[in-house]
Amino acid sequence: MDFKGEIIKLIEGKISDIDESGLEKLIEVPPNPAMGDFALPAFSFAKTMKKAPNLIAGELAETLESPYFEKIEAKGPYLNFFINKGLLVEDVLKDVYENKDRFGSSDLGQNRNLIIDFSSPNIAKAFHIGHLRSTVIGNSLRNIFDFLGFKTVAVNHLGDYGTQFGLLITAYKLWGDQDAIDKNPIPELLKLYVRVNQEAEEDPSLRDQARDWFRRLEAGEDEAVRLWTYFREVSLSEFNRVYKMLDIDFDSWNGEAFYSDKMDQVVKDLEDKNLLVPSENAIVVNLEKYSMPPMLIKKSDGSTLYATRDLAAAYYRHKTYDFYKNIYVVGSQQNLHFKQLFTVLGLLGKDWAEDCVHVPFGMVSLPEGTMSTRRGNVVYLEDVLLTAIDKTKNIIADRDIEDKEKLAADIGIGAVIFQELFNDRNKDYVFDWDKLLSFEGETGPYVQYTHARISSLLEKGNFNLGDEVDYSLLSLDEEFEILKNIYGFKDTVIDAGDKYQPFFISRHLVALCQAYNSYYANTSILVDDEDLKKSRLALSFAVKTVIKNGLGLLGMKAPEKM
Ligand code: ARG
Repeated sequence: MDFKGEIIKLIEGKISDIDESGLEKLIEVPPNPAMGDFALPAFSFAKTMKKAPNLIAGELAETLESPYFEKIEAKGPYLNFFINKGLLVEDVLKDVYENKDRFGSSDLGQNRNLIIDFSSPNIAKAFHIGHLRSTVIGNSLRNIFDFLGFKTVAVNHLGDYGTQFGLLITAYKLWGDQDAIDKNPIPELLKLYVRVNQEAEEDPSLRDQARDWFRRLEAGEDEAVRLWTYFREVSLSEFNRVYKMLDIDFDSWNGEAFYSDKMDQVVKDLEDKNLLVPSENAIVVNLEKYSMPPMLIKKSDGSTLYATRDLAAAYYRHKTYDFYKNIYVVGSQQNLHFKQLFTVLGLLGKDWAEDCVHVPFGMVSLPEGTMSTRRGNVVYLEDVLLTAIDKTKNIIADRDIEDKEKLAADIGIGAVIFQELFNDRNKDYVFDWDKLLSFEGETGPYVQYTHARISSLLEKGNFNLGDEVDYSLLSLDEEFEILKNIYGFKDTVIDAGDKYQPFFISRHLVALCQAYNSYYANTSILVDDEDLKKSRLALSFAVKTVIKNGLGLLGMKAPEKM
């Protein structure tokens, strides 16, 4: 049931010279339901109709009629539309019953390929709290676009290449201890990396050795490749523990190294288009015309850079997936890099550069002293998640529940994810342990708890999906507000995808839980009247379904018992 579509149809019949998408944008949802469920301001019709907006609204209100609306009313320059409640109730609840875990989904994407490059940590470096954002936002976007009917390709563009590996091999050859690394890979590798950088200050010959090792790695020499593979494997085994905790997987692990032999075409194209110019110690693309510093393509020793590999990766993705969108979920520190990348692709004549999107985000920080940094002064994402689980275990310690380990993980990790996805991704935020784990307020546990409470209510009330429901019994204002929220879920998912903002969904869920919990506090659901009970349980089931689907889109679990 498309209420907005109906409004557009009604208005189109009355006003000439108006286009559909323009109208769609004009339709508002009034903050106060007393002003209608939808409102349309008449200001923009004044010119063509040569009349004052409130006159137009008044005249339209008198002539418009539709079974979709109980009432269409003019209030000053606004037209207010009041949904036909009976119609909405039946339509929404039937939709939920039919679609269940697909309720809210659509086929907007028409199976087009959409690439999401996210998480993408660096080998032999810490998978730290900063990566939480890309990982969690990217995973949610992936779920959202899947739900919208796209064929998503989740890419982990691992930072597994570059001259720093020459340094790392040099350090390993001098001081490496395989046993220590096997036990505690990344902190040990980090130590080697820090040490070699320090010592190279005094002893520049270390840098020569490093360059030589990197050359040997590029040339595919056995020992260099063997060590690089080893560093990559031990790092991945650490990363995979985190992905497992978060229940995230990838369709492609093609990181930077994958492109090490695929850059010739890019460099050749840049040469053919006369875009390469020598600069101090490098060959660059000059971007002065676009008010940007130059993009570095090659260093004087011939070695390529992060940017060059990203150009090659974009080529490869276009060739392999002919993508509808190629999305990079990477922090705002790399704004310039992606602007340069897309500009250079444009200069190369690739019209698909327009389909490449950088989805940036702000910083996350932990207040000092809230977590022991067991492994040096970096905060590892894994430790953050383990801490969340531990703290949750304490909170649920005396609840009567079977698998407390699993529940603590579902709640604790979910709480971290929810906090991460509760605000505009562009905003910076500070980790707040007490707030995020609270069962009250705008939190993950609160939403999950509402879900679990409904589950037990449905069980107690012997709810059956096949039961006949008398929709006309759902006539309370509070019920109508809940139904409108459920009805709006699909649009929220579409908007979240459109703006790359998962927080639209988390906010939608909180609003739904608040509406439902206040209804629950004021209304008995398990009443003696069987029909009334059934209709209220049916509404509760619909709420549960939206919560569950929404949590799934955020990348969270929806426990049945809490
Ligand atoms: N490894 C990079 C980092 O940790 C992120 C890579 C993002 N993806 C890309 N195609 N550049 O900062």
